[in-house]
Amino acid sequence: MGHLEKYDDVLARDPMAAFGLVREWMRTEWRELFAELRERRPVFVTPVFTVVTRFADVTEVLSLEEVFSVRAFGPRLDAALGGAFMLARDGTAMNWREKGLMQYLLDPDDAAEVRAMAGRLADEALDAAAPNGKIEVVHELFRPVALGVCAEYFGFPGPDAATLSRWSRTIIADCFANYLGDPAIQAASVEAGTQMIAHLREQLALRRSGEARSGDVFSRLAATGCDDERILINMAGLPLGFVESAPGAMVEATEQLLLRPEVLSQAVHDDDFDRYVWEALRFNPFFKLLPRICERDHELSGTLIPAGTFVLAAAASAMFDADVLAEPESFRLDRPRHHQLFFGHGHHACVGVHPARVVICEAVRRLLRRPGVHVIEGVARSNGIFPDRFVLGLEA
Ligand code: HEM
Repeated sequence: MGHLEKYDDVLARDPMAAFGLVREWMRTEWRELFAELRERRPVFVTPVFTVVTRFADVTEVLSLEEVFSVRAFGPRLDAALGGAFMLARDGTAMNWREKGLMQYLLDPDDAAEVRAMAGRLADEALDAAAPNGKIEVVHELFRPVALGVCAEYFGFPGPDAATLSRWSRTIIADCFANYLGDPAIQAASVEAGTQMIAHLREQLALRRSGEARSGDVFSRLAATGCDDERILINMAGLPLGFVESAPGAMVEATEQLLLRPEVLSQAVHDDDFDRYVWEALRFNPFFKLLPRICERDHELSGTLIPAGTFVLAAAASAMFDADVLAEPESFRLDRPRHHQLFFGHGHHACVGVHPARVVICEAVRRLLRRPGVHVIEGVARSNGIFPDRFVLGLEA
């Protein structure tokens, strides 16, 4: 029996159990489920949410910010940060202005320098672990690289790396994984955000009193003449955009490459390594679903989505849509960038894409270039989303 038959069967008896089935399949059998949905029910309506699975429909949802808003998580982000943040605002002057400002400050011309920084941080972590003959890559390699880039490039080390790491996980877990709105998780997020903003406020005052560092993103932002509150909130947005998603993508791409030894042995000798990372990530993207609320009735692929519907734009499904991608089940290195949705699409497309791309690829490359890398313990994920443990063997 296919997923849809099982779903329809359970739905007739217990709608909430049917919803639970879909939620579980989206974690564990997403490729099979989405393949069936794209073919048979591309706009899949459940009692709790509607999943949009085809490339054209996913990009339509993400392009129409006035119809499909970020109200699904925006208010939580604002609450954590104690003010408005661009990712929580659709079609506003504030989003337009601040996104433009942050695009300017996260200068694409920094990419080579940021790549070298990520490579150095990765090599330091790998050299430290090599004598043990193994490394737990989430906490000993990928998070330290992301936190190191936060410290050096963004100019935001936090009080210490562990605290910054905890703040970002606590806020992201509420905004993107607290589906049932658990008030304790929400309260923890507000507390973490309040501490983060208070810490940044002290750091801004120190910079203003002459202990300034120059060149990092914090210094650039502080020099813009923006209102202090805007500086603090946009600074807080940097680790929030990065500390979970970059290590998440690094783990998923690494796992997929290790599953393909022939591809991997070719990749490590190829000067154009990055394309292997993006194609590998397509087989398990860190962001599979982008949540939206439908603000007014809208028709997609012949299905009416009523106002008020919680919509999940399945970017992971779109990247397997045979109407757009040639041989989607094959690992191919010639895929054009506009078929990749790892950094979103349209109005809220990722502002950190340039540094993020080079950091992810370089950290993975430095790891996989080491001789004899092999899996000792497979990936363990908390909440089914955040990679928390992945132990690899290294040649000592
Ligand atoms: C330098 C690091 C990063 C920063 C500063 C950053 C920041 C942001 C911000 C501020 C937005 C919202 C833009 C808007 O509302 O207009 C955004 C969107 C997004 N980012 Fe990033 N990000 C970073 C890295 C990443 C990484 C590593 C990934 C995934 C691998 C990622 C995936 C996304 C996605 C999918 C969206 C769209 C969200 C949506 O449409 O709901 N970002 N990012």
